[in-house]
Amino acid sequence: MVRKQIVAGNWKMNMDFDEGRDLAFSIIRKLGPLHSQVIFCPPFIHLNYLSVLTKGIANLSLGAQNCHQQNNGAYTGEVAASMLKSVGCEYVILGHSERREYFAEGDEILAQKVDVAIANDLIPIFCVGEKLEIREAGTHENTVEKQLKGGLFHLEKDLFSKVVVAYEPVWAIGTGKTASPQQVQEMHYFIRKAIANKYGKKIADMTSILYGGSVKPNNAKELFENSDVDGGLIGGAALKASDFIDIINSFPKD
Ligand code: 13P
Repeated sequence: MVRKQIVAGNWKMNMDFDEGRDLAFSIIRKLGPLHSQVIFCPPFIHLNYLSVLTKGIANLSLGAQNCHQQNNGAYTGEVAASMLKSVGCEYVILGHSERREYFAEGDEILAQKVDVAIANDLIPIFCVGEKLEIREAGTHENTVEKQLKGGLFHLEKDLFSKVVVAYEPVWAIGTGKTASPQQVQEMHYFIRKAIANKYGKKIADMTSILYGGSVKPNNAKELFENSDVDGGLIGGAALKASDFIDIINSFPKD
């Protein structure tokens, strides 16, 4: 069983045109041969030229941070999955806690987004994760299971096998407070078990599950070393070329 090891950089709403181009150039210039799948997830304005810049670099792909749940139409300000595909995107982050929290994206909309992404040949990086009060109450596994059921588990088996899952505990995002390797492994194991219960062990063993939340060069290796952690979804540290490269170089796993 070989599942894909992935390091995805979620730039969030950072980097204007020049800054983004400089960042991407700095990273690409210093990259050696890639042993894992690396994904740049910049704001929409960067996707078009980055797809030209990254073309032909093995294991380097592009992802968007969101898409609309409809194929096209009168949705001012929104971007469709087909448009992302047309500029060379291969992935799209869906269900990020910032989308859930600030844009009120719930299970129903997220399930539609997952469907429209897959229908347009994009791979969803589907985020789940609990808030601090849920972690403190000890009900984090229930919360994550509910998010998986609500946004993903409607998929048929053959479609689910296209999905990447990212566990991002909300309390660890942008806080510098990383979940411990043990907390991460426990939750990833739980997620894989939930996938196995729904789709069978073979699919579960093939599904890449990423961790996100204050991953830095100094903690990436011990997080990625866990048997059920298949890489990371990186926020702040993806904005500094040397940090992002150090994190990429935490692969391959020993
Ligand atoms: P930080 O790495 O800045 O905590 O962000 C994580 C994240 O939200 C990635 O999607």
